[in-house]
Amino acid sequence: MRGILLAGGTGSRLWPITRGVSKQLVPIFDKPMVYYPLCTLVMAGIREILVITAPEDREQFVRLLGDGSQFGLRLEYAVQEHPGGVAQSFLIGERFIDGGPVALVLGDNIFYGPGLGRQLAMRHRPTGARIFAYPVADPHEYGVVEFDETGRVLSIEEKPARPRSRYVVPGLYFYDSRVVDIAQELKPSDRGELEITAVNEAYRRAGELSVTVLARGTAWLDTGNVESMMQAAEFVRVMEARQGLKIGCLEETVWRAGLIDDDGLRRLAEPLLRSGYGQYLLRLLDGLPGPV
Ligand code: TTP
Repeated sequence: MRGILLAGGTGSRLWPITRGVSKQLVPIFDKPMVYYPLCTLVMAGIREILVITAPEDREQFVRLLGDGSQFGLRLEYAVQEHPGGVAQSFLIGERFIDGGPVALVLGDNIFYGPGLGRQLAMRHRPTGARIFAYPVADPHEYGVVEFDETGRVLSIEEKPARPRSRYVVPGLYFYDSRVVDIAQELKPSDRGELEITAVNEAYRRAGELSVTVLARGTAWLDTGNVESMMQAAEFVRVMEARQGLKIGCLEETVWRAGLIDDDGLRRLAEPLLRSGYGQYLLRLLDGLPGPV
């Protein structure tokens, strides 16, 4: 299965920070935001990833991540000329998807939790669509999903005034090969976007949308405004200090997934020694992480 990482958008809720840099390249504590959703795709067993960026940001992403071979990944890049909605990913990525199933992750979503990797890796080769559900205190700002005890979705509504449940849909989606056809049929919404909720609604109407509730101990953080960005950074800082293990450490994730060997990890660590990040990677090779 291939994956798309969507890292375009306007980032207007973070202005002026994101006037000069892509939101997905700003730091969440000790690494660029994009590392976190990249790790999520890798944990789901995905090795070939299309990174979609705004035209002016493309070069910076390439500078950071290259062709991915140093991580044992194959990365391609495409641009989204204007932020025309999340579902535009499938039109931009049509050639890359190449008639297969595809996973999509939003570049500003952070997932962290027990068993998440295993849970995601089981989502391979779906028939229909699979989305996730996560309870939040205030669902108004999100796509809200209502489902029965078998996981069949009853309704899904974008930013409803009266949410039918406390469960919202995080920015990680798995689709079968029909998703491109479905995206091609979409009309822009009132806010002028091709909505991912409309894609999910098309699958729901066909009886082919299933939902997995993320385990209660899972953290799903989005980083769209300054407050949530700082909360995410604080979460990462606290967990890393407590456990001595990094969250969203791409180099570690690909090494643990067997995509690079010890020498590969050493090569990634060496240029990063001055910040301490590289020391952490080297300590992994000794088997005992020690302090972050
Ligand atoms: P949003 O946070 O909804 O939008 P945004 O990033 O443009 O920010 P703001 O609302 O502050 O202006 O987007 C969620 C994620 O999806 C984020 O990682 C950006 C990405 N995205 C695109 O790449 N292209 C798009 O057309 C849209 C709507 C979002």
